[in-house]
Amino acid sequence: MDATIVPKMQKHYPVLLKEIISVISPQHGGTFIDCTFGQGGYTKKILDFENTNVIALDRDIESAKIANQLKESFKDRFIFKNIKFSQLKNLKLKNENIRGVIFDLGYSYTQIKDSEKGLSFEANGKLNMQLGLNNYSAEDAINKLDEKELEKIFKFFGDEKEAKYIARNINKERSKNEIDTKSLVEIIDKSKKRKNFKIHNATKVFQALRIFVNKEISELIYGLINATKVLKKGGILGVVTFHSLEDKIVKYFFKSLSENKSISRYSPLVKQADTLFNLIQKKPITPSEEELSENPPSRSAKFRYAIKKTDFYNFDTDIEEKFRNYIEIEKYGDKL
Ligand SMILES: C[S@@+](CC[C@H](N)C(=O)[O-])C[C@H]1O[C@@H](n2cnc3c(N)ncnc32)[C@H](O)[C@@H]1O
Repeated sequence: MDATIVPKMQKHYPVLLKEIISVISPQHGGTFIDCTFGQGGYTKKILDFENTNVIALDRDIESAKIANQLKESFKDRFIFKNIKFSQLKNLKLKNENIRGVIFDLGYSYTQIKDSEKGLSFEANGKLNMQLGLNNYSAEDAINKLDEKELEKIFKFFGDEKEAKYIARNINKERSKNEIDTKSLVEIIDKSKKRKNFKIHNATKVFQALRIFVNKEISELIYGLINATKVLKKGGILGVVTFHSLEDKIVKYFFKSLSENKSISRYSPLVKQADTLFNLIQKKPITPSEEELSENPPSRSAKFRYAIKKTDFYNFDTDIEEKFRNYIEIEKYGDKL
């Protein structure tokens, strides 16, 4: 979701569900990986089809409660793991027949309503923003990083034009008082000369901090690489993104692996496909008018997918190089 504001609707709504199901076609059976289980919206729908199995992941332990309920109904057809999707390779799925891997990035309605997580600038109390399995919080970042580092986080992860003034004012304020959610919003308001009338003044900085605290860029890059490895020939990799940086990464990954030779030269295979992916649809799929009216926060959702053309496990990609700058910024967190 693009804005870290609590949506007015009352329940979780699985974004682009119909479109995703139509692309991955679980009616033919098979094993699917739901990398972002959340409230289980996609998983439940897949398991409703006979002969399907789902391996679901989520970094938020709260998801385990819903997963336990599903386990009662679907037994061995369903497995839940409380891990980050970048760790997909630890599941040793190399020889499984995986037909589809799905990512629905970001956070759910339930998470943004959880005031302890502090994802919203409307929340009261301490800065946090950890979705689960994190090493540091937004409070650590705001209080311990250098002014220059904060500026880069706001600029690169939030596209915040006034990053420099905001970081400078945070640095001044933190020497006097502890910064919580409310005071951070006040600092941003005070720092911004150009007021934004379309989105809240704090939207971009809050998005940037959430990306940084959850290392969302490295998670996405290593998640995509590892998901691609475990897919079998004909398997589908599908990703729903909610902001332009995520979409840029997914678009580049799919495009480069469907245009450049991506199978290693050292492949023992005699007959190889030239490229790893088949990109049937270059443009992303976006929510219908009907979905937009039922669930307005879905307006920023974009769904892209690609089909793997070979069973080959290893492949070459320059995605880390291409987005190295962002990965390096996330590494500021290593010293916190
Ligand atoms: C938008 S919600 C998914 C909603 C889900 N599709 C549904 O229909 O209920 C995103 C979920 O992904 C989880 N998540 C975000 N980043 C993750 C990561 N790197 N690894 C594992 N789970 C992650 C969040 O904790 C959240 O529960």
